Order: sequence, then structure tokens, then C-alpha cells
Amino acid sequence: MSSDIQLSLFNESSSNPTELIPTDAKIPIPAGTYNQMSELAQHCNQCQRCELGKTRTHAVVGRGNLNAQIMIVGEAPGQHEDETGLPFVGRSGQLLDKILESVNLTTEEDVYIANINKCRPPNNRVPTPSEMAACLPYLLEQIRLVDPKIILLTGATALKGLTGEKQGITKIRGQWLEWQGRLCMPIFHPSYLLRNPSKEKGSPKWLMWQDIQAVRSKYDEIRQQSA
Ligand code: URA
Repeated sequence: MSSDIQLSLFNESSSNPTELIPTDAKIPIPAGTYNQMSELAQHCNQCQRCELGKTRTHAVVGRGNLNAQIMIVGEAPGQHEDETGLPFVGRSGQLLDKILESVNLTTEEDVYIANINKCRPPNNRVPTPSEMAACLPYLLEQIRLVDPKIILLTGATALKGLTGEKQGITKIRGQWLEWQGRLCMPIFHPSYLLRNPSKEKGSPKWLMWQDIQAVRSKYDEIRQQSA
């Protein structure tokens, strides 16, 4: 922490250090900072830890069941998400909902959806490494609060942003990885499937169908074990 930040802890108006969290990416967000997703969402909506805070309409925190056993992590909000404050509500989101529906998974019951970055990057560019790093502690807190058994990482940014794994998504998709004691599976990003509509054997959509069935089986297995 820089001495400016340390000194700012002396300010009467910010006697509670957590009030400084949304102001600067150098201020850590330790595990256990948030007791409720609503407190985290409030900080995200005030957040200026990176430049993306300047251009957002809404921070996009999450949607779905806060006690879900499956969490899906995307990249960053697009235009529709920025407008509504909800993740995956544009074309990619509609396809994601259909993929989940195909194996009877719903955001009401089974799934919580969040992103690596909570604010929309201009022109939907990929978030920079420093933007991802500034926002990552919020996602780590979301994971702690939801406590999912399975995390699905959609696309290379989500995979690299959370786990640091640099292998290409085409190579690694469909494989179970262990990250901090949780089962994770990298899967294609739905926007990639929108650009590759073929359903032929071996196509990205066909591979997604294999992956989501594997997720459904693992989920059933986990639920049986805990029943
Ligand atoms: N793409 C993402 O990765 N996340 C969203 O919320 C929307 C589109």
C-alpha cells in the first residue's frame, strides 16, 4: 500500500477502511470483506478501481441463485448488460440460457452467473490485465459467498482471469480442472458459438453439447453425494 493510501486511512470521513475499497485498485479486498452480495454490488456501482468505472451505466454483478452449486463466469458486460445491470442478457446470454435449458438447468435454481469484469469495456474490447486484476477480488468474494461446487469458465478471458491458465480454450475446454478446491470446466464462450453456428459433429456447438452434458452428470453426482 502506498503511503498516500495509508495516510488516507487517517481521514475522519473514511475511518472505515472498507469505504476506500472502490477508490483504488491498490487497496486490497481481503476474503471475508463482504457478508452480503448486496454490499459487494453497492461497491461495484461506486467503483473507480480502473478506468472502466468512468464509462459504465451500471456495474454488472450477477444474476441467478445466490446459493447455486454451479457458477458461470463470463468475460465482461456488453451493451445490453451495461444498460440493464444484469450479466448475459444480450444474444450471447440468450444462447447461454438455451444451453442451460437443454439439460434442465436454470438460473432460478441451479446457476449463478457473473463476469471477470463488472464494467463494460469500450466497444466490447477484451479487458486489459490491469482491469482484470482490479476487479478480480470482487469475483473471488462472489465465489466465496455463493460457494459453488462447479465453476464454468466461458472463454479464454474467464479461464485466464480466474485461474491464470494460458492454454487455449480449444485445447482445454471440456476438461475438469481443480482450482482452489473447486471443480472448474473451461467451456466455449457463447459468442464464439454465435459466430460458428454449425452443429456438425466436432463443431464448437457440438462440443458444447458434450460439455454441458458432462456438467449435468457431474452436478447430479454431487447432488446425490450430498443428499
Ligand atoms: N459476454 C460476457 O462475457 N458477459 C456478459 O455478461 C455478456 C456477454
